[in-house]
Amino acid sequence: MGDKRSRIIKALKDAQKIPVSGEELGLKLGISRTMVWKYIKSLEADGYEIESSPKKGYVLKSVPQLLYPEEIQMGLKTTLFGKKIHYFEELSSTNNFAKEIAAAEEEGTLVVAEVQKGGRGRMGREWVSPRGGIWMSVVLKPGIPLMYASRLTLVAGLAVANVIRAMGLDARIKWPNDVRINGKKVCGILTEAKAEVDKIEYIVLGIGINANMDLKEIPESFRIGSTTLKAEFGKNIKRVQFLQKLLFELEQQYIRFKTQPFSQLLNDWLTLSDTIGKDVKVTTPSRVIEGRAVGVTAEGALLIKKADDTKEEIIAGRCIYVRSN
Ligand code: BTN
Repeated sequence: MGDKRSRIIKALKDAQKIPVSGEELGLKLGISRTMVWKYIKSLEADGYEIESSPKKGYVLKSVPQLLYPEEIQMGLKTTLFGKKIHYFEELSSTNNFAKEIAAAEEEGTLVVAEVQKGGRGRMGREWVSPRGGIWMSVVLKPGIPLMYASRLTLVAGLAVANVIRAMGLDARIKWPNDVRINGKKVCGILTEAKAEVDKIEYIVLGIGINANMDLKEIPESFRIGSTTLKAEFGKNIKRVQFLQKLLFELEQQYIRFKTQPFSQLLNDWLTLSDTIGKDVKVTTPSRVIEGRAVGVTAEGALLIKKADDTKEEIIAGRCIYVRSN
């Protein structure tokens, strides 16, 4: 079903508003004209605007602004990421769903939802996920020891920041996983791993991007310190295109992660991060550590120099900047 639908969409797009007859589409796909008509009806039900005239055929007038797999995969330049997509109009959490299916899925499988009702942030927090955002999870099977899992958070942050930067905005990364524009958070990353003893079975890389939303759609308690791509660009972005670019960039960085010394990737991350050199306060489930952020270790831990001049590595925590330098 999916494949034929995509081929009909592609044929209509390629025709560039010149009518394509049901007969022609049927011949191309090896199906009857009645079947073509059924596919057209199902596309219309999904928001594709298709004009049909009995004499001439079908013209694609507009495509819905949704993250449909067919739209994402058309022109997607990856070899692995997004080759299989689970799409949901509404879901509790893409990370939850991805974790349920991960064991049986190929690496690179994507879960995407227009709305999340139970979106999760780091450290047990809620992640507000209204329509217009990009809420996604990618299944990874990197075959690395568990201790390196947090490196993937840095990989994802770097990829998101790179894509936004390529669009002309000065995106920066706040350790460990916030991508920010003008000091305000536009994206959060939640990396979850399933491991046995020390071997990772899979990793679910959850990425939440405040894309085409007005700030007022984010409840006030979450709004402070947040922004959206729409607010920063002053207009809606093309979410499908953005997601295609992100999947490509993620895959590139993931290949680097698997094939090159991590130090190179870390250097790029450090160049884009605005955390190093800042006075920070990091809250972990058990305590609060204050000091100056002086580096990030090969495991992705933040290195903090405290007032007594001793250094401490923090692998995970909530980081706030105490004072900007
Ligand atoms: C953070 O606290 O900064 C991390 C937020 C991660 C949100 C994303 S949205 C897609 C995926 N599904 C979830 O439930 N959470 C992540």
